[in-house]
Amino acid sequence: METSSQEINTYQLEERRYPPPPEFAARANAQRDIYDRDFDEFWETEGRERVAWFEPFTKLYEWEPPYAKWYLGGKLNVAWNCLDKHVEAGRGDQVAYYWEGEPDGDRRALTYSDLLREVTKLANALKSLGVGKGTPVGIYMGMVPEAPVAMLACARLGAPHTVIFGGFSADSLAGRLHDMECEVLITQDEAWRRGTTVPLKRVADEAVGESPTVQNVVVLQRTGNDVPMTEGRDHWWHELATDESECPAEPMDSEDLLYLLYTSGTTAKPKGIVHTTGGYLVGAASTHYYIFDLKRDEDVYWCAADVGWVTGHSYIVYGPLCNGATSVMYEGTPDYPDKDRWWEIIERYGVTILYTAPTAIRSHMKWGPEHAQKHDLSTLRLLGSVGEPINPEAWIWYHEHIGGERCPIVDTWWQTETGMIMITPLPGITTTKPGSATKPFPGVDVAVFNEEGAEVGPGGGGYLVLRKPWPAMLRGLYKEDERYRETYWSKYPNVYLAGDGARIDEDGDFWLLGRVDDVMNVSGHRISTIEVESALVDHKEVAEAAVAARFDATTGQAIVAFVTLKGGAEGSVEKLEELRNHVAIKIGAIAKPANIVFTPELPKTRSGKIMRRLLRDVAENRPLGDTTTLADPTVVDELRSREAEEQSKED
Ligand code: PRX
Repeated sequence: METSSQEINTYQLEERRYPPPPEFAARANAQRDIYDRDFDEFWETEGRERVAWFEPFTKLYEWEPPYAKWYLGGKLNVAWNCLDKHVEAGRGDQVAYYWEGEPDGDRRALTYSDLLREVTKLANALKSLGVGKGTPVGIYMGMVPEAPVAMLACARLGAPHTVIFGGFSADSLAGRLHDMECEVLITQDEAWRRGTTVPLKRVADEAVGESPTVQNVVVLQRTGNDVPMTEGRDHWWHELATDESECPAEPMDSEDLLYLLYTSGTTAKPKGIVHTTGGYLVGAASTHYYIFDLKRDEDVYWCAADVGWVTGHSYIVYGPLCNGATSVMYEGTPDYPDKDRWWEIIERYGVTILYTAPTAIRSHMKWGPEHAQKHDLSTLRLLGSVGEPINPEAWIWYHEHIGGERCPIVDTWWQTETGMIMITPLPGITTTKPGSATKPFPGVDVAVFNEEGAEVGPGGGGYLVLRKPWPAMLRGLYKEDERYRETYWSKYPNVYLAGDGARIDEDGDFWLLGRVDDVMNVSGHRISTIEVESALVDHKEVAEAAVAARFDATTGQAIVAFVTLKGGAEGSVEKLEELRNHVAIKIGAIAKPANIVFTPELPKTRSGKIMRRLLRDVAENRPLGDTTTLADPTVVDELRSREAEEQSKED
């Protein structure tokens, strides 16, 4: 009964409508006619307006499915667009980042001129280590201004980077450094997180030990604690990056590689998503300009993501800086030293635009609105959400308690692969509905297809697809052409399969329904079931493992692992902790299962295939689907009771 009344509630909340406030609409960067613009005209104009070119492009795009090229013939430099462009226009004194460290009082403001100087110094330093156009560089850092500086220094030299989220383990880091054949790694001694230090350099040392291509490591001093330095290989940032003499920005072709970002797919091996220069920058900057309605001389914009994810790349670094925004960057957790830290930051800097994830909103909801009420949040004028479907309750809480019922909310759907926001309200135009990402961005062709590949109209549901190329789209998977074709382009010819389920309502608004593949979404982080399974079976005592996700009120999904130990051994609390830690060592703490159910057997078909669908049903506590193909139907009953036991222990 309880579930059904909750469903009715959710349904009623979804029915609410929020038209844009008239004052907001009147001044909005995007006005209604934006939806009437022709595809080619829109992207041509954006290409010229958002980005400065050393040499203009001669052709808008070329589409040879499944590969696209954009702004052909154009030459540009991303760092130049993010820095020099503004300084040369006399805007060097504008703050680019207000940075707030986690420890009390640790604050810096970096203007565009400051940032240009820091980038120049690091670029010169990297050059002295032999980095030039095409040299792959790894970046493993926390949320310090030097992380964007490192990315921009690479972009300035034309050296492609890969940023590895600071929460990833040595194994994950090594895998990425190895795959991209990075020659240099940029890291820091330690990072601050919830009052303690994260040993980035120590993890980096372990990873570099397994990454023979890495010859030099540049280490930023952040906490100042002692860390081992390897003579000849490791260099302190502050000692190496001292040369302020001009470092020319390398003219790059539109289609030159800007970065790789590894993300989870449906196998154990992460995919290296390829992003190039011109189209990516146009896509990131134009979406940032219209969706966040950026007024660069008035707004203080805060994207509370981590630079290690694509949101950080497109909407902390490249989009906002290309648009000349003033941003806030925060190093630590939202609950340190108290649960009002975010709201204190908003009040201190007068933040006008906040972009975050539903999981964060739900944490704040759980902590209660009193923390936000202690602070003046009246400067806020626009809120954003990204990373997972936002439940209507969280949407409304965000609207009321953070947005003071006056701020439009943009629920933005996109992916590491898309590089830029694809489905979103435009805040001065769209009437929003709690839980719906609403409409495709102008110049983006989104549809929902049924199994057979027919387009589903209003009222229907199915697979979310993208039918036309877009400027910031991935240019493939690094060194994996077959996998690229297979993953995104094999279900429907010449149409990009996003991997998400979606429905369209009677107004033509899109509602995202979560992943349709073996990818989980925990706190907005993408994790593959198979990656976690591989990490578990890597443990010497594990015979078999299968992983499924269950609903979690805060993190969206939580990982449940079903594990069979070797030799029929019984599980224990100690073993459970050991296995969770093993996953943290193999992947990172974000991938630790919330529960582990030890079981003598996993449900398998007669041909020996693990029935994941059934495990999902067990994990979600749903009635079981078809069990007739099971080799041994008693296995699931046993699993059920074991999972119930686990749950009751947890409660
Ligand atoms: O399932 C969708 C979900 O996050 C996936 C992409 O994850 P990632 O590449 O890590 O990028 C996250 C940040 C862009 C999508 O396939 N997702 C992202 N945004 C939304 C979303 N699901 C529903 N609504 C969203 N606004």
